[in-house]
Amino acid sequence: MIFRNFKQSDYDSVIDLWKRAGIILSRSDTIQGLEKKLDRDPELFFVAEEEGRIIGVVMGCYDGRRGWINHLAVDPEYQGRCIGQEIIQELEKRFRKLGCEKVNLLIEMHNSSVQGFYEKMGFKKDELIFMEKWL
Ligand SMILES: CC(C)(COP(=O)(O)OP(=O)(O)OC[C@H]1O[C@@H](n2cnc3c(N)ncnc32)[C@H](O)[C@@H]1OP(=O)(O)O)[C@@H](O)C(=O)NCCC(=O)NCCS
Repeated sequence: MIFRNFKQSDYDSVIDLWKRAGIILSRSDTIQGLEKKLDRDPELFFVAEEEGRIIGVVMGCYDGRRGWINHLAVDPEYQGRCIGQEIIQELEKRFRKLGCEKVNLLIEMHNSSVQGFYEKMGFKKDELIFMEKWL
């Protein structure tokens, strides 16, 4: 398995993987939306590939203060084989290289069972009120 940065030609495969893994997509996940994301820290948006097949993906972001993890997903056929763990380790390595000291992530309420995975990766739950507004 190798890690390589996301490129535009991965779009259909990545969207398919996200859908099959149950990631909820939004209007920010159009090809234009993901191209915009590539303008900033493209090395944090990468795929795990095995024999030419994309089996995992994550979209990290660094805002200059905190790192954020978005849309982490492993192909359901490959889950439970430590690929998620390896993606997190690789992403943390890339965050550290940028000088990032703390990483945050949000879990949708319907997906709360994934909390156990992140706890194994060393993350701790914080009691916060998440607010949002589409522009
Ligand atoms: C969450 C996800 C990325 C984990 O990837 P994975 O490759 O299946 O996980 P790993 O095999 O690397 O698991 C690493 C460890 O976490 C544990 N783990 C994995 N999923 C877990 C879960 N849902 N709850 C509790 N522990 C979990 C594994 O048992 C393993 O523990 P071990 O080292 O003691 O054996 C993957 O299940 C997935 O794509 N889920 C659907 C999409 C999703 O929910 N993404 C997160 C959005 S916030």
